[in-house]
Amino acid sequence: MREPSQASAAYLEVIRRELPEYDRLQDEVVHATDGLAVARILDLGTGTGETSRRLLLAHPEASVIAIDPDAELLQIARDQLGDHADFRLGDLYEPLPHGPFDLIVSALSVHTMRPIDRSQFFSRAHRALRSGGRLVIGDAVTPGIELPGSPPLQDRAPDRLETLVERISQAGFTPKTTWSGADLAVVVGQK
Ligand SMILES: C[S@@+](CC[C@H](N)C(=O)[O-])C[C@H]1O[C@@H](n2cnc3c(N)ncnc32)[C@H](O)[C@@H]1O
Repeated sequence: MREPSQASAAYLEVIRRELPEYDRLQDEVVHATDGLAVARILDLGTGTGETSRRLLLAHPEASVIAIDPDAELLQIARDQLGDHADFRLGDLYEPLPHGPFDLIVSALSVHTMRPIDRSQFFSRAHRALRSGGRLVIGDAVTPGIELPGSPPLQDRAPDRLETLVERISQAGFTPKTTWSGADLAVVVGQK
């Protein structure tokens, strides 16, 4: 489990080309869990399992429930993480598995939802975390301020960073942006 599997490495090559800050984002997601006692992790939008792999290196005693709607990607995650995680087909719109979790993480997935659904997901995450638990969202954000005459944001455009922070706050968390790049950010919600 120390290194990415061959199939995951192929996926990583593609995503690194598309997102040059992919590794920085993953590092910052893990960094955002510093100081938290972590036994139960829920990783939503697991993909090939890269986020979970890194989290398990940082928290080797933890167990992960890894959820993704794509069976092929989940199989790659299963091949590299094996017994270290419980893999489930599912998505961010569904009720969350029975908690309480210490840590709920989602990397590069929440922005695929409609804005209203993002807020509802954060409320579900709040209910599924233990008191003192943490939500860590590493995701795309829409950069910059709105310029006069710029076209309106599309229905599913990523949130602006301040909107993402506000949604997490409104779900009951104390929010904190722990890292932001050009169009990626990590926002923590402390319960
Ligand atoms: C860019 S990949 C990120 C995967 C992994 N978290 C990472 O950082 O490497 C986005 C993942 O989100 C998943 N996804 C897309 N829509 C989703 C949804 N509604 N609920 C949960 N996962 C979703 C995709 O199947 C894909 O695995």
